[in-house]
Amino acid sequence: MALQKVPYSPFFYCVHVMFMLHLVVASDSLSPGQSIKDGERLVSSGQSFELGFFSPENSKYKYLGVWYKLSPEKVVWVANRNNPLTDSNCVLTFSDERNLVVLNRSKSIIWSSNSSRVLRNPVARLFDSGNLVVSENTSSHSGACSWQSFDYPTDILLAGMRLGWSLKTGFEWSLTSWKSTDDPSSGDYTFGINVNGLPQLEVRKRGSTKTFRAGPWNGLRFMGIPAIETTLLRPLFVYNDTDVHYEFDNSVDDIITMLTLNQSGLLELLLSKKENSRWDVMASFPRDPCDNYGQCGANGVCKSNKDPRCQCLQGFVPKSQEEWQLFNSTSGCIRKAQLNCSQEPGFLKISMLNLPDLIDFRVNKNMSLEECKVECLKKCSCTAYANSDVRGGGSGCLMWFGNLVDLREFEQDNYVQNIYIKLSASELDSIQSPVNKKILVTVASVISGLLIAGVALSIMWKSIMKRRGSQRQKEDIDLPLYDFSTIAVATGHFSQTNMIGAGGFGSVYKGNLSMGQEIAVKRLSKGSRQGLEEFMNEVLLIAKLQHRNLVELLGCCIEGEERMLIYEYMPNKSLDYFIFDDDRSFLLAWKSRFDIVLGIARGLLYLHQDSKLQVIHRDLKTSNILLDVDLNPKISDFGLARIFGGNEREARTKRIIGTYGYMSPEYAFDGKFSVKSDVFSLGVVLLEIVSGKRNRGFCHPDHEHNLLGHAWLLWSAGRTLELLHESLCDSFIASQVERCIHVGLLCVQKLPGDRPTMSSVIFMLANEEAILPKPKQPGFYMERVPSSTEASSIREDLYTRNIVTITMLEGR
Ligand SMILES: *[C@@H]1O[C@H](CO)[C@@H](O)[C@H](O)[C@H]1NC(C)=O
Ligand SMILES: *[C@@H]1O[C@H](CO)[C@@H](O)[C@H](O)[C@H]1NC(C)=O
Ligand SMILES: *[C@@H]1O[C@H](CO)[C@@H](O)[C@H](O)[C@H]1NC(C)=O
Ligand SMILES: *[C@@H]1O[C@H](CO)[C@@H](O)[C@H](O)[C@H]1NC(C)=O
Ligand SMILES: *[C@@H]1O[C@H](CO)[C@@H](O)[C@H](O)[C@H]1NC(C)=O
Ligand SMILES: *[C@@H]1O[C@H](CO)[C@@H](O)[C@H](O)[C@H]1NC(C)=O
Ligand SMILES: *[C@@H]1O[C@H](CO)[C@@H](O)[C@H](O)[C@H]1NC(C)=O
Ligand SMILES: *[C@@H]1O[C@H](CO)[C@@H](O)[C@H](O)[C@H]1NC(C)=O
Repeated sequence: MALQKVPYSPFFYCVHVMFMLHLVVASDSLSPGQSIKDGERLVSSGQSFELGFFSPENSKYKYLGVWYKLSPEKVVWVANRNNPLTDSNCVLTFSDERNLVVLNRSKSIIWSSNSSRVLRNPVARLFDSGNLVVSENTSSHSGACSWQSFDYPTDILLAGMRLGWSLKTGFEWSLTSWKSTDDPSSGDYTFGINVNGLPQLEVRKRGSTKTFRAGPWNGLRFMGIPAIETTLLRPLFVYNDTDVHYEFDNSVDDIITMLTLNQSGLLELLLSKKENSRWDVMASFPRDPCDNYGQCGANGVCKSNKDPRCQCLQGFVPKSQEEWQLFNSTSGCIRKAQLNCSQEPGFLKISMLNLPDLIDFRVNKNMSLEECKVECLKKCSCTAYANSDVRGGGSGCLMWFGNLVDLREFEQDNYVQNIYIKLSASELDSIQSPVNKKILVTVASVISGLLIAGVALSIMWKSIMKRRGSQRQKEDIDLPLYDFSTIAVATGHFSQTNMIGAGGFGSVYKGNLSMGQEIAVKRLSKGSRQGLEEFMNEVLLIAKLQHRNLVELLGCCIEGEERMLIYEYMPNKSLDYFIFDDDRSFLLAWKSRFDIVLGIARGLLYLHQDSKLQVIHRDLKTSNILLDVDLNPKISDFGLARIFGGNEREARTKRIIGTYGYMSPEYAFDGKFSVKSDVFSLGVVLLEIVSGKRNRGFCHPDHEHNLLGHAWLLWSAGRTLELLHESLCDSFIASQVERCIHVGLLCVQKLPGDRPTMSSVIFMLANEEAILPKPKQPGFYMERVPSSTEASSIREDLYTRNIVTITMLEGR
């Protein structure tokens, strides 16, 4: 068995690897009688990982380790981290007891795999996953495994490794940071799963102080962080009587991902393309100061978009005003009015909050929420309760006693889980009765706070991690990743002359790939947090959708801080570029417009009904409809789109983002969206195409109505054709125009239930004989909204009514 004999250190080996590779075929396994000395190594069969002795950069010690072989190399596992070798006279071999051992010069055992199982014919093999496995050498690779390095992680979790517990044996998998970049010995921080009560993810310092926490596991996710799931990795969380563990899979072949715990206790998800020479940080925790454990003390809530970010829970006041005024909130908050259990207290329901740490608590998975409440009322020291499992509408009972610790607020509705906080009856009364003057101030400051901070919390993968729980998603997403350099060259290094659009998210460039293909590149501005979230949403969603009336995503580019989406190029810009312009509107004759209407409708039908997923676009408008060379319409911008599962008919969001003029009333007021809210937007688009006027900002000398109201008045008066834009006067077909307007009015009816589905929209548009029902009054036909904030940032309007409602309750 020939092993490579190359004097080298993993940190300076790139050069000789280049010419050694084809000279010696390195082995991936080691048998009894063979050994590996300093400078020799095992190489996994797919050339991804190597095992051997190494010295960190500024260290005089040697360690046995496994490292990711392709540049940039990265040590992913260290055997003798706490017992370094002092010189290079070291050897890895099988000991008599059929254990793997590392021996020093005087043949003392420095490290041993220490497995109790005796094998007849053992072999140690380094797999392409990075796992070093000792097993029986049988013809099938599935020989009984007696020891594996994956069971003893150091500071890195690779695909296939576990974090958590085997409850049967009491064995724990956890990460422990390096002491420093030069010293792999056990450092201060550990990351693991705490299984006391319900599983929680925890980073601890020196085994005791918590520095970061996410959880408890609520059946679908660890509250507070998104399930770590992207297009690039698939997580699995197992939680049953015998096993509690987290692991993930790589889902893209030429990409490697790993979760690392660095020396300052920061968790990072790293990604590298195999041929790349850099590790990119895809996400890190803590994300912001509010993620630091217990930032605001007992009963304090951390709000990342507020200044100061620490506030007391409603019904509580700072324990020490002086300290809080100096922005030291560690002393936390106390109740304004003491609880008196002989006077029936009540509960304040709060959402958008993570659940408090499980310190003094009780779980009963059999109880309902109502039983939970009764129980919490019975127990005087119970301070709050919530469902322990959110699946299927919620079940189980989680009760807290004493102080509520480590609370933070989220702006994202996908975190929502209600918690009920016990307050004295008098306190509840004062909270729930309106406090008028302060509301306005609070509302104004919340809105400006939100606009300024954007959605600071969001990190890119959040939106993607939909409620999936422990089920792996089987389908892979096959979206090409482009190199930054390729895109830079294609767009003339993002030159001004190639810029074809810009917005709050960043800029859009036209480019030419070397094969001659024209592309449009949407480049997110760095630090656009909200943009990032929408970016990943779009990548995930649109990669799975293909239809001639949807814009095609060709790939994406993720490198360093760069995030780009690469689309097919649409030479004819967007619909609004034509129809609202006095000169250009003549370029779109009635026939083209009618074809465009049908195309948009087909694209929407595909999203709603015919694709594998049911997708609600949520931001359909004329500027999101692009036109190709032949003026075929393509729906674009899936940044806000949502996937609906199985029987889901309607969803609600607290973060209402869309565009005024196109939003349906139920969405704008209540955050409810469904296929019918898209139908409403389509109706507006139809009327805009026919009239050449924008719904928003429409004015008429005779009345105060908007375009929808105007169209309805004309239709009711039998003067429908007067809506037609003058540019269409010599090309139109009256029956088509009338049908178009009629269908448009059906789509914008006030009640979602009255609006037609997309399949009937298409049927009504395309069939001369179809008999159309009478439209009822449109939604929003009178309503006007302030028109001052036109086209400001990412989305024109950030409508935050529900967030405001919640804040009103505070009335400090
Ligand atoms: C495993 O056993 C086979 C024969 O049974 C032998 O050819 C092979 O070299 C052994 N592999 C190792 C790594 O020892
Ligand atoms: C080998 O290790 C043993 C035990 O750790 C130690 O006592 C001895 O000094 C080491 N020998 C050398 C040459 O480093
Ligand atoms: C090896 O295992 C035994 C028991 O199985 C344990 O007592 C001992 O501490 C272990 N040694 C090492 C170095 O892990
Ligand atoms: C728990 O899950 C693991 C992994 O899915 C499985 O092997 C084990 O049988 C399960 N245990 C129980 C009690 O369901
Ligand atoms: C840990 O990671 C963070 C973020 O990348 C970095 O700022 C910090 O310096 C790292 N700590 C160490 C000790 O490397
Ligand atoms: C904050 O207040 C606590 C006492 O409640 C004190 O121990 C701590 O040192 C203070 N921290 C700072 C940064 O002043
Ligand atoms: C609690 O309420 C009861 C009945 O109203 C009253 O008698 C008692 O003094 C109260 N206790 C405290 C600690 O306020
Ligand atoms: C929950 O219900 C199951 C069966 O209904 C029962 O076996 C179990 O003891 C109950 N657990 C608790 C904590 O009440």
